[in-house]
This record gives sequence, C-alpha cells and structure tokens, in this order.
Amino acid sequence: MPDDFPLQSQTPDALMLFGFWYRALPSNQLSRGELTKTMLLEQPLVIGRGQGQGRGRDRQGQVFALRDACPHRGMPLSCGQFDGQQIECSYHGWRFDAHSGQCKLIPSLVPEQTLKIDRIYAGSYPCEERDDFIWVFIPDPGPAGAGFTKPAPAPMPAPEIPKFSEHYKLAYLTADLPCSVDHGIIGLMDPAHGPFVHQAWWWRTQKSIHEKQKNFEPIPYGFRMSAHTPSSNSAPYKLLRLYADADSITTTIDFVLPNLRSEIIRAGKYWFSSLTTVTPITRHQCRIDVVAAWNLFRWIPFGPQLLKFVFAKFVEQDRRTMELQSEGLKHNPHLMLIDDADRPAKWYFGLKNAMLEMNKNGGEFRHPMSGPVTLKWRS
Ligand code: FES
Ligand SMILES: [Fe+2]
Repeated sequence: MPDDFPLQSQTPDALMLFGFWYRALPSNQLSRGELTKTMLLEQPLVIGRGQGQGRGRDRQGQVFALRDACPHRGMPLSCGQFDGQQIECSYHGWRFDAHSGQCKLIPSLVPEQTLKIDRIYAGSYPCEERDDFIWVFIPDPGPAGAGFTKPAPAPMPAPEIPKFSEHYKLAYLTADLPCSVDHGIIGLMDPAHGPFVHQAWWWRTQKSIHEKQKNFEPIPYGFRMSAHTPSSNSAPYKLLRLYADADSITTTIDFVLPNLRSEIIRAGKYWFSSLTTVTPITRHQCRIDVVAAWNLFRWIPFGPQLLKFVFAKFVEQDRRTMELQSEGLKHNPHLMLIDDADRPAKWYFGLKNAMLEMNKNGGEFRHPMSGPVTLKWRS
C-alpha cells in the first residue's frame, strides 16, 4: 500500500470482516428465559438465555444466538414465544431448539405428512460469555443451504481479557458511534487527538503536548506498541507508580484484527488490563465496548465507579467527536493519513486489506509491517 494512499479510497463502503467473534451485549442485560434483538455486521440476531426445565438443565443460563428470521417465511423469531428452551415462531407456530436452531415441531402437519422436520434449522451462531459480555461468532454469510444448515462450531475460542491474579475487578462501558467501524477503530488508535479531545485538569492539557517516541512491532494479524514506562505527564500514572512502589510501569498495547485493542499495564504486583472492541453494527454505525479488569485499588469501595467515571469521560469525548466528524464525512471529503501520527491507522488498513485478500484468494497473510518500527509524534 503506498504511503500516501488517501483514506477515502481505502474505505469505499466499509467492508466488514466475517469469520470472527464480536461482542454483542453485556451479560447483565439478558436474564434467564429472556430474548433480545440485536444486530452485528448487518445480520439481524435474536440472543437469548436458556432456562432449564427437566432434561434441559445443563443449558441453565446458557446464552445462544439465532438469526432473527424464521426459516419458514422470515418472521423475526424475536417476536416469538420462548419457554426457556424452545422458541415458537409467532406466525405459524414452528418450534425451534434455541441452542441448535433445530426444528422441533410444525403444528400444521397431519400424521401422514412425513416432512423430516429435524432437518430444518433456524440459523444459529456460536455464542459465548467472556468477562461479563456475550460474544457471537459471525461466519461468512456464504450461500449456506438456507433452512437446512446445521450450526458449525467456531474455529477459535472467543477473546478474553488477560488477567494476572486470582482476584480482580471487572467493569465495562459501551457507547454507540455514528460512523463506520474503520473510523471507529482508527479514532481509537489515533495518538494525536488526545491533547485536543481528552482535556481534563487531572489528566492533561494542551500545554502538556510534547514529542513522543514509541516502538511498534508486528504480531500475528496486528501490531504491538512495545512495553515501556508510560509518559510522566499525566497525574494518574505518577500516582500509580507511587502507590505500587514500582520502579517502572510497563504498558503494552496490542491491536489485533478484526477490532481488538488490548492494553496491559503492570506495576509490581498490580495490573490493569482492558480489551476494547469496535463492533460493526451496520456499514455506517458501530459500537465501542471497553471492558477492564484490574487488581489495583481493590480495597477502595468506589474503585470501579471511579475508573468507570474516568473511562466514561474519555469514551464520551470520543463519541461526541465522532458524532461531529460524521457530519463532515456525510459530504465525502478527501481525507489524509500522515506520518507518523497516522501510521497505526495505515497499518490497520493494511492488515484489513491483507485479511480480505487472504479470504478472497487464499494464500498467506501478507502483514503490512516487515519488522519493528519507531514512530515519533507530538501529543
Ligand atoms: S414464518 Fe415462522 S412459522 Fe411461519
Ligand atoms: Fe480518544
């Protein structure tokens, strides 16, 4: 990819990457025996949580995801009745096993009609819970044998936040962003907006802007900002170093396709770990979910609230910025990616292109980075 490739031509219509796990919704938003409607990568989904009765006990509380369209005539299954194990379509009463999608009953059949109903399936997606979030694996929407396709298992486990001790706290934040997943992701990795968007007296001001130098290296399907002692221009880091009584604080930030940004901060025996995702809902709309785990300040009763407050502020500043940006983007302006501050964004597009290319033509994944790189910018 040429270095001065304009951004606009890289995102003609925000292609989405199929064949990955995506966050769907926080676990606590779905109770047992409940259904909820959602959308991921323009796929309408109904997500539910089982409620065991008799032999279904092993499915007690387990989550599932089905395509929100009855294989009979397309009625959204989310409009149906759910008894905790089966969903009954509200149009003609066909019943489906909620976890496998397999058809269990077609009420209109008379005894001598021998239609093999167990061969009929409502589209079913692998669905798992990790770190208080429900994840759904979205396969390529290929020409599956509509209505007769058994659910296939996901080829890899759902992503998980790395944790470094037995006890820890967990909190999440989520915000809808009115932009394509690409703008959401490059906004997330953009080092130059900090002093302008994220100003706060306790964090930093525009005056604290200074030259930075960071080392990056390629990792499988992504890149890493190598461990280092974080810049000393922010009060929370100073506080952390003091509190942890550690000589150094190491931070590692990884970005990995399709949409995962993980950040690990370690200071002595203390750690803070977060996994942020930007999930395409439609081509023009995405959602950012930040989930953090930590063992710092566990003894402070309001620790999680405090952290949530800090993160919520950042996320809200980003959300507001992207909302305003979407106004400008409506008219399809020319866009630029400059060195070095926008280099991570270039890598993101390079990685994404490599993935699309590999999915289309097979062959090896052609990583856009050939080795470690040092970037410099002022922020
Ligand atoms: S559309 Fe669902 S049973 Fe007919
Ligand atoms: Fe930001």
